[in-house]
This record gives sequence, structure tokens and C-alpha cells, in this order.
Amino acid sequence: MIKTVEWTSEGVRMLDQRILPTEEKYLILRSYEEVAEAIKKMVVRGAPAIGVSAAMGLALGARQSVGTSIADLEFDFDHMCEVMGATRPTAVNLFWAIERMRARLRRAKAETDDVEEAKHQLVDEALKIFDEDIESNRSLGRFGGELIQDGATVLTHCNAGALATAGDYGTALGVVRGARDAGKRVAVIADETRPFLQGARLTAWELSKDEIPVTLITDNMAGHVMKQGKVDVVVVGADRIARNGDTANKIGTYMVAVLARQHDIPFYVAAPLSTIDLSIRSGEEIPIEERDSREVTHVGQQQLAPEGIEVHNPAFDVTPNELITAIITDKGVARPPFEESLQRLFAD
Ligand code: MRU
Repeated sequence: MIKTVEWTSEGVRMLDQRILPTEEKYLILRSYEEVAEAIKKMVVRGAPAIGVSAAMGLALGARQSVGTSIADLEFDFDHMCEVMGATRPTAVNLFWAIERMRARLRRAKAETDDVEEAKHQLVDEALKIFDEDIESNRSLGRFGGELIQDGATVLTHCNAGALATAGDYGTALGVVRGARDAGKRVAVIADETRPFLQGARLTAWELSKDEIPVTLITDNMAGHVMKQGKVDVVVVGADRIARNGDTANKIGTYMVAVLARQHDIPFYVAAPLSTIDLSIRSGEEIPIEERDSREVTHVGQQQLAPEGIEVHNPAFDVTPNELITAIITDKGVARPPFEESLQRLFAD
């Protein structure tokens, strides 16, 4: 099993995703600041993995807080949450995990005055978030696997696999693994996903490691392969899903959804409930992260574009709900109208 992020006695252990697939190297992060920096620099990435890492980073920070009362710990913890929350704005799992950790500290405070006990509870909460992530992606994979026909080819964008979660199954790739584990034959076409190349570097790597047949294409080949009848279904992950089903995911996802509609191919979004933000009405309210221009002008150390060129580098786009066939979650499959079906999943 690929272990994206892990709690160890030395600190938070992370697989450095920036250098995959050529190097498989793990980093030990020994403070919450180091974890926040790792999220920002994309050592770890993918909405659920960001949430799990943030929770572990906060647990680490709490453990290192030198305050002698719970009030001292709360003061330090507020600052840590602010630092963590300022890392990446789009993936709602980050804010969801921070809120879970804050709520656990509030509960601990109501139960005890022992600051060491409160710290212990925060570590426990982070480990719970980790375990639940693995479990919810297994469940999502089972629901999603039922929607995949035997012999199907799934096109995916970015990496929504083990590497984008706590490990093991993943979300979009969890659906692929769910189908495989139900005994179906399934193959994947992976978009390379410019500019950070999560498809080429990460999806291709983890599927090959898992011996799931995968073919890599560049992003501009998606329409062509669909037209040739080579794609049966599209499955992507999500960074934030609004109440009406509008979905923010890696830049280029919207383009794939439009192409899928043009070719009458089902377009599924796979995400745990922690990625659904019922507090916002539509995708208009989702903040889109703008990243460093160097990701566009360079590949590694290689410069591709003229020095000083104007660059726009939005890391995500929003796919409108009308292009989404269904949203596969850990609690079941939501179909349009999403405004009702998503709320129902939370109520169940
Ligand atoms: O910028 P990234 O690599 O963090 O973006 C990741 C994605 O867009 C994934 O598709 C999404 O987080 C779902 S991961 C299960």
C-alpha cells in the first residue's frame, strides 16, 4: 500500500511527491510549520491528503506547545490553524480538517483541565481523520466500482489516487480499484495534467505499481481519443463541491467535462463527503488558487517560455453541475438535481 502521509514517533512522514516518479523519497517533518510548508510546496497534494496532513501537522504543533494550561494551548492552536489555513485555498478538506481539530480541542476543554490529555486527544483526532479517509475511499470505491462496466476504459485527469489521499485506494482511482476488486477488467487513460504533471508523474506511477493498465496522453489528446471511441467513462476527483454540485478540480477538468458531454460519455466526480461544502451555493464562491508562473514557464529546471513573459496559472477550474452525470461519495451516489441529492447524503 502506498503511504502518502504517516504519523510516526519522529514526526509526520511524507512521500515527497515533487520528485516522483524518478525518486521515491520520504521526508520527516518535525514541526507544524514544516508540515504547512510541505502542503504549500506540494510535497503532499490532493484534497483529502492535504486535510489529513494538516490535521497531523496541528497535532504535532499541539504536542510541541509549551503552555501549561488549556487556555495557553488554545492560544497557540489558533495561530497554528491560521498558518495551516493559509497554505492552499481551494481544497475544502483543509478547512474541514482544521475545523475537526478545533472542535476536538473544544470538547477536550469541556472534559478536562489537563493540557497533556487535551494534546493526546488532538493526536487521536488526527489519527481518526487518517483512518476515516482510508475507510471512506474504500466505501466510495465500492459504490463507484458498480458504475464501471467490465472491460471499460476510464479517462482521468490529475491524480486522485492513493497519493492524493491518506493512501491505499484514492477517490477517482478508488473507483477504478473498486471495479478491479469486484472482478472487472478495467484500464485507464491518464491525462498528463499540465502544468504540474500529476497525471504523468503520479497517476501513471501509482497505477503501474498497482499493475492496472494505464496509457498516458497529453491533455490536448483527450478529445481525439474520445472521438475514436477509446473512452467509456470519465472519473475525476474534486477539491471542493458546492451545494448545487458545481465542482472545483484540477485545471483542465472543465475542458474534459465539455468533451465528455460532446461525445455522450458519462462524467463522474468521486469525492468523500469531506470535499462537499454545503455552506456555498455554487461554484462561483469557490476560491481558485493562483500558483507561481514558473510552473508554466519551466518543466523542472528547463525554461520553455521567454524570460519575463506574462503568465496566468490558475490551479483549478469549476465544472458546472449540468455536465456531471453523478457524484460518487462514501455514502452513496448522488444524481441531479444535486441540491437535493447531496443534502440527502448528509442527512442519512
Ligand atoms: O493541486 P493538486 O495536485 O493538489 O490538485 C489535486 C486535484 O485537483 C485532485 O484531483 C483533487 O484534489 C482530488 S484528490 C482525491
